[in-house]
Amino acid sequence: MVMRNEVTARVPAKVNLQLSVGPLRADGYHELVSVFHAVNVCDDVRATRADGISLTIAGEGEDTLPRDESNLAWRAAVLLADASGVDPDVALHIQKSIPIAGGMAGGSADAAGALLACDALWNLQTPREELMEFAAELGSDVPFALHGGTAIGTGRGEFLTAVLSNGAFHWVFALADGGLSTPLVYAECDRLRAGHDIPDPQVSDSLMQALRAGDAMLLAEALHNDLQAPAIKLRPALAQVLEVGEDYGALGGVVSGSGPTCAFLVRDDEHALDVAVALTASGVCRNVKRATGPAPGARLI
Ligand code: C5P
Repeated sequence: MVMRNEVTARVPAKVNLQLSVGPLRADGYHELVSVFHAVNVCDDVRATRADGISLTIAGEGEDTLPRDESNLAWRAAVLLADASGVDPDVALHIQKSIPIAGGMAGGSADAAGALLACDALWNLQTPREELMEFAAELGSDVPFALHGGTAIGTGRGEFLTAVLSNGAFHWVFALADGGLSTPLVYAECDRLRAGHDIPDPQVSDSLMQALRAGDAMLLAEALHNDLQAPAIKLRPALAQVLEVGEDYGALGGVVSGSGPTCAFLVRDDEHALDVAVALTASGVCRNVKRATGPAPGARLI
């Protein structure tokens, strides 16, 4: 049995290429069709042998994130330990690049990383399906952070089916000052749709065709997020961010998840640089990040 003193998991951020929000369920969640796409903006979660559990954080949002049991990564380590009958002895350290409360599932990525890293540190060899179940228990987006690539999520987002896609897509992300609360954005979505018939969400055929063809132009046309209107309602400045990105030649732009990060699809590296420079110069966002997708799911490095 190999006993390691330290392991690190690298976990990608996601953007939703499609996020179609169905009716509110009795459990407070919404039935979704979400086409998740992992991009190579990653957090690293390091797990080191220790007595008891602790958490330190460096990078994006380091001053604002909790370092106790209210952090999803901490909860992931405890859940895995409890389920496996071991003590949660681990010093977790998260090196963050994924914006916090940005709609890119950074907290979910950290939880997925903690699951994978602790599983290796404690030599548990938990079957993949079980890790996915723990992930779903922790949050709707956590299973996808383990899965990576491009995948359709149904249910509340936790049931995943891989999607066939060709080639790489290039993205520019416009990061905002301050986050948006996911529950508040969903609540605003309900408020805006009150009194309307809400159909069951369906996977977009044109999106699937664009992914199969590896065609960025078609993909740009098919980007769709039902949470975009409520996110803009709560943060009107996002409309301007989307306008600037598109005015400066992005193929398409969309609010990422519940926002406030905006994702712009571009042709290639050079185009990404042009759009990133334009967004920075316009002053409409706090920072920009360039990335490509699909990226692999959580993995040990
Ligand atoms: O699953 P997670 O804890 O990440 O979800 C955060 C919040 O987002 C939920 O409490 C809920 O308000 C909202 N949500 C939802 N429907 C989903 C996923 C999330 O309403 N399918």
